[in-house]
Amino acid sequence: MYIEANDKIVEHIPLDPANIVVVILAAGKGTRMRSKLPKVLHPLLGEPMICHLLRAVRHTGIPPERTAIVVGYSGEEVANVVKKQGNYLIVNQDEQLGTGHAVKCAEDALTKLEETDTAHVLVLLGDGPLVKSHTLNRLIQSHLTSNPLVTLVTTEAENPYGYGRIIRDGKGRFSQIIEEAELLPQQRNLKEINPSLYLFRGKWLWENLKRLEKHPAKGEYYLTDLPAMALKTNEVDKLHPVQTMKTDFEEVLGINDRVQLAEANVILRYRVLRHHMLNGVTIVDTASTYISATARIAADTIIEPNTHIKGNCIIKQGCVIGPNAILVEANIGENCVINASMVENSTLKNNVSIGPFSHVRPGCILEEGVYLGNFAEVSRSHIGANSKQSHFSFIGDATLGKEVNVGAGTITANYDGKNKNKTVIGDNVFIGSDSILRAPLTLGNDAITGAGSVVTKNVESGVTVVGMPARPIRRKSVNGNSENKEE
Ligand code: UD1
Ligand code: CA
Repeated sequence: MYIEANDKIVEHIPLDPANIVVVILAAGKGTRMRSKLPKVLHPLLGEPMICHLLRAVRHTGIPPERTAIVVGYSGEEVANVVKKQGNYLIVNQDEQLGTGHAVKCAEDALTKLEETDTAHVLVLLGDGPLVKSHTLNRLIQSHLTSNPLVTLVTTEAENPYGYGRIIRDGKGRFSQIIEEAELLPQQRNLKEINPSLYLFRGKWLWENLKRLEKHPAKGEYYLTDLPAMALKTNEVDKLHPVQTMKTDFEEVLGINDRVQLAEANVILRYRVLRHHMLNGVTIVDTASTYISATARIAADTIIEPNTHIKGNCIIKQGCVIGPNAILVEANIGENCVINASMVENSTLKNNVSIGPFSHVRPGCILEEGVYLGNFAEVSRSHIGANSKQSHFSFIGDATLGKEVNVGAGTITANYDGKNKNKTVIGDNVFIGSDSILRAPLTLGNDAITGAGSVVTKNVESGVTVVGMPARPIRRKSVNGNSENKEE
C-alpha cells in the first residue's frame, strides 16, 4: 500500500481532525441481490453488512452523532438495525436518484452540526463493508495534510467489470471517473477502479452537488462526476484539487450480488481468523472455522475444525473448542472443553467440559468443573461446581448445588402445560438413573433418588426416595447411622 502524492497545494485552511462528518449511502434496494431484504442488511459473517462498516468508522473516532446514514428502500428496517449500533443520524432518500443525490439528502442533517463550514465529509457506501479503520485513518490523515478539495481512494482490480474506472492524463494525474456503461471499448481494460471512498471539503461538496447533471441513460445523479468537476475549479485558482490514495482491492470490494457477498465473506472470515492466530489462538483448519467479527478469544485456546463462534462470544485461555462446536453469545472460562456441542447465551466458568453431543441452551451458568457428557441438555439453569450430568438427560429451570450427580435418563419435568416451574437441588445430591423430578420441587443436600423414581414431593436433606411416586426409605441420622423410615 502506498499514498500517492499529488501536485503542490497552494491554499491552506485551518484543519481540525475532529471536524469530519460521514455520509453512508444505504438507500438502494440492491436489485442484483434478487432479495426482499435490503442489500445492506444481508449478513456478512452473521451480521448485517452495514454493521461492519459502522464499526470501522467508529474505530476512527468519528462518533455516530456525526455520521448520517441515507436510507430509502425498506428504510425503516435499515434504520432499526443502524440505531442499535449507536445514535446515528438517519436521513431519507425517498426516490433513489443516484449516489450524488443520495449524498445531497444528508446535507441538512450534517450542516446543522456545528462548524460544518470547514468540515470535511467522508462519503462511504453501505455495500462496501470491508474497509478497515486503518485505511479510513490514512485517508483522513492524507486529506487533512494536503487539503485538496477531494481525496479519493483507488485500487487495482484484477476484474474491474462493473466498477467506475479511474481515467488519468498523460502525466498520470487523475482526470475523471467513468462508469462501466459509459466506458469506451479501449477503456474497459483499465484496472484502476473507484471503490467510492471519498473525503471532500464540506463547503465545496455542498456547493457543487447542486451542479451535478442527470445521466440520461439511468436518470441518476452520479457522485462520481464530482472529482472531475473539482479539477475544473483547479484551472481557476491553481489549487490541485484532487488527490488519490491507493489501497488493496480486498478492502474495497463492492457487494452487488450474492457472488460478491460470498467473496466478501471469505475475505472477512480469513481476516478475523488471522487476527486470532496472530494473537496466539490455534486454528486447526481455517477452511472450516467461522468466527464472528466481534468474538474475543484468549491466547492458547485451540479451535478444532468445523466450529462456529457467533455473536459476542468471549473465550478465555487454554480452551479446546470443537471439533463441531457451535457457540452463540457464549462466555467461556479458562481451560474449558467443548466437544461437538452447542452453547447459547450462557456462561461457563473455568474447567468446564461438555460433550460430545450436548446442548447448553440460553440462560445457563455452569460453575467451575462442571461436566456434561453425552446428550445432556440444560436450559435456564445454574449448575454448581463439579456437578456431573453424564448421559441422556434434561435439566431445565433448575438450580443445582455442588458435586451433584445427575444419573442417565434424568429429567426435570419443569413444564406443566402453562408454567415453567423451578427445581432446586442441594449439594452432593445423587440422582439415580431415569429419575423424573416433577417441578416445583426441592431436594435437600445429600438427598438420593433411586433409579426410576418419579419424585413429586420435596425431599429433605439426607433422605433417599424411591419408586413411583417416590417415597423416603432411609434418613441419615445424627450419629451417622441410617435409620429406616416409612410414611
Ligand atoms: C458505485 C459507483 C462506482 C463505483 C462503485 C463501487 C456511482 C455512480 N458509481 O457504483 O463508480 O465503482 O460504486 O462499489 O456512484 N445508493 C443510494 N441511493 C441511490 C443510489 C445508490 O443510497 O440513489 C447507495 C446504494 O444503496 C449502495 C451505494 O449507494 O449502497 C452504491 O450504489 P450502487 O448502485 O451499488 O452503485 P454501483 O453501481 O456499485
Ligand atoms: Ca455497488
